[in-house]
Amino acid sequence: MKLWGGRFEKGVNSLVNDFNSSIRVDSRMYKEDILGSLAHVKMLGEQNIIPKEDSTKIAAGLETILKRIEKGVIKIDDSSEDIHSFIESTLTYYIGDEGKKLHTGRSRNDQVTLDTKLYLKNALISLSNDVINLQEILYKKACENVNTIMPGYTHMQKAQPITFSHHLLAYSEMFKRDLSRILDCYKRLDEMPLGSGALATSTYNLDRHMIAKDLGFAQITINSLDSVSDRDYAIEALSVLSMIMMHLSRFSEEIILWATNEFSFIELSDEYSTGSSIMPQKKNPDVAELVRGKTGRVYGDLITLLTVMKGLPLAYNKDMQEDKEALFDALDTASLSLKTFAGMLNTLKVNKDNMRKGASLGFTNATDVADYLVKKGLAFRTAHEIVGAIVLHCIKENIVIDDLSLEEFKNFSPIFEEDIYEAIDLVNCVEERNVFGGPSSSSVKTQLELLLESITKTKEAIKCLK
Ligand code: ARG
Repeated sequence: MKLWGGRFEKGVNSLVNDFNSSIRVDSRMYKEDILGSLAHVKMLGEQNIIPKEDSTKIAAGLETILKRIEKGVIKIDDSSEDIHSFIESTLTYYIGDEGKKLHTGRSRNDQVTLDTKLYLKNALISLSNDVINLQEILYKKACENVNTIMPGYTHMQKAQPITFSHHLLAYSEMFKRDLSRILDCYKRLDEMPLGSGALATSTYNLDRHMIAKDLGFAQITINSLDSVSDRDYAIEALSVLSMIMMHLSRFSEEIILWATNEFSFIELSDEYSTGSSIMPQKKNPDVAELVRGKTGRVYGDLITLLTVMKGLPLAYNKDMQEDKEALFDALDTASLSLKTFAGMLNTLKVNKDNMRKGASLGFTNATDVADYLVKKGLAFRTAHEIVGAIVLHCIKENIVIDDLSLEEFKNFSPIFEEDIYEAIDLVNCVEERNVFGGPSSSSVKTQLELLLESITKTKEAIKCLK
């Protein structure tokens, strides 16, 4: 049943009906819609805008509908215009004419943004739990690999030795920032819009604070025009989701590389790999590739909503109905990606020997030779020049720096002594990088402690949001 038939002489074209309908997308907000209506109708009764008995009867009807939808007794009708129309018409069907009083002092314009905010608040809490779960797996893996030496790269060229733990903890920093962005987004959207009406509030004595309190909002929105036309919160959530996906995608790219035969730094568990229909030897990193691919989808969702909003005059315009498809798609995609990625990370096997081998080739200890000379009194630029010549010599001879005899070292500079071998040993190269934030085991242990602390604090902050 339509909520707006009175003014029309002809029924709507069936194509338009379909085109206009958003119920396939917004039906998932049935609970938020009912909770919002419950708060609204209680307030209508309290304020004597409608009789108390009607308010009570409507509330009981809404509660029954919620239970019946949840039990599958009531099926949401796909031919309804949207979830708001469906719930309202179901209510009137259930309880009779009193149901028609529910929409007093309300518009679907403030209703839809209320529902979306309620939905998003829960979705952000669940998303932050997905990120926390990933952080805990990162923490565990990082603890297991404090002494796992691997080559660090810049420009995809071997640069300096680091540890796998140090590398993993780089990602945990990204996810820490993502978590703080989720909480920040949550705080900004925590303003209750109902009572704004279609655009200019209403002539009834609505108590908006009562509704906000009932629904657990921190405050109410300040301007009714803004309340019904604001979708910043959805765009902000999409941008947070895009950032999460970007981080997962970079991580996925590394996992794909590390799993290649050329690198062989890791082996993915069978549970998180797939085979080829033609090449029997294949074990493909499909999960990581899909995360990388889905990142494009989530960026697309962000661009969709930014574009939908860019030319809209105040206040509500139907264009804005397109917001939820993008938002829900991105929420679903990011949540599934986070969960699947976490499982893949948790079960992958680290080939410590290959990582170590990787670090021993490609002259990752060349900087340490230069630093050795500097510590013995040479200027860094001069030392850099000498080590450049050493590396060139080694490339020609097809050897690593460690293969040079002390005599050969001395041909490049008389400063070299027996202790050069100690200085370029990979373990020492890592341990000497003991600056805060670096790869040495003590520095990484500090990073691990800070990660654990941040996980605990974020969990507490999430609890406070509920
Ligand atoms: N289904 C609509 C949406 O998602 C609800 C708001 C409709 N408002 C209106 N004035 N037609 O945006």
